[in-house]
Amino acid sequence: MRIALMTDPHTGSENDHPFDIDLRKNFTDVLAKIVSEKPDLLVIGGDLCLQSGDGSIYQWQRDLLEESGLKYYIIPGNHDSSTLLVEVFDQLPRLRNSELFYAEQNHQSTMIFLDTSKGSMSEVQKKWLADQLKEQASQILIFMHHPPDLMNVPHMDERHYLRDKDEVMKILRGSGRQLHVFCGHYHVDKVVHLGDVHVHITPSCYFQIDSSQKDFYVDHTNIGYRMINIEKDRMETSVHYLNGNLAR
Ligand SMILES: [Fe+2]
Repeated sequence: MRIALMTDPHTGSENDHPFDIDLRKNFTDVLAKIVSEKPDLLVIGGDLCLQSGDGSIYQWQRDLLEESGLKYYIIPGNHDSSTLLVEVFDQLPRLRNSELFYAEQNHQSTMIFLDTSKGSMSEVQKKWLADQLKEQASQILIFMHHPPDLMNVPHMDERHYLRDKDEVMKILRGSGRQLHVFCGHYHVDKVVHLGDVHVHITPSCYFQIDSSQKDFYVDHTNIGYRMINIEKDRMETSVHYLNGNLAR
């Protein structure tokens, strides 16, 4: 099974070009590259909208995603509205507690999709996550917008961390399972291993953040996506940049 993950497209209106970046072109360029990879499915990792949830932007993205022919799943980020997302993407039955969280079986894996759009998870969602980790027999892949712990990226760790990270990490580490967690939000390419919890942060389709600074600085604007290949008990994952790994 081959999974593509694109995250943090931050699509705006047609006239929005922050930092002189054409966000709509970024979305279509990354999607076209992913389509050429012919993955079995695509995950959109949240922050679909530039600032806040917008039905017309979700509709623009949905039209392109449907046109792509790819099977896709969506999780919300802190710049999204879960209720608007489920309306536009016809996912209403998955909305619980005004959060969009759900699990899907694909081949030998269980994919768990979480909602951290409010900067933390409800007690209902955390209980559901703990139950899933107990009940699912197969290999588990977790997709959530925020990393579940601090990632040694000072600007993000100080201002934009997951507020209930300690509780969430307790659930993840307490499961006693090897867990691969795929995130966005931090706008960096980074892997952090926390015991049996392996966190893979995927760069944004907008800009990447300088991970050495406390204040906000853009590191570069080369955009990318992640591929995850799973075959039996082998899992490999890598980030691909549209302009090559060295060209910025
Ligand atoms: Fe975010």
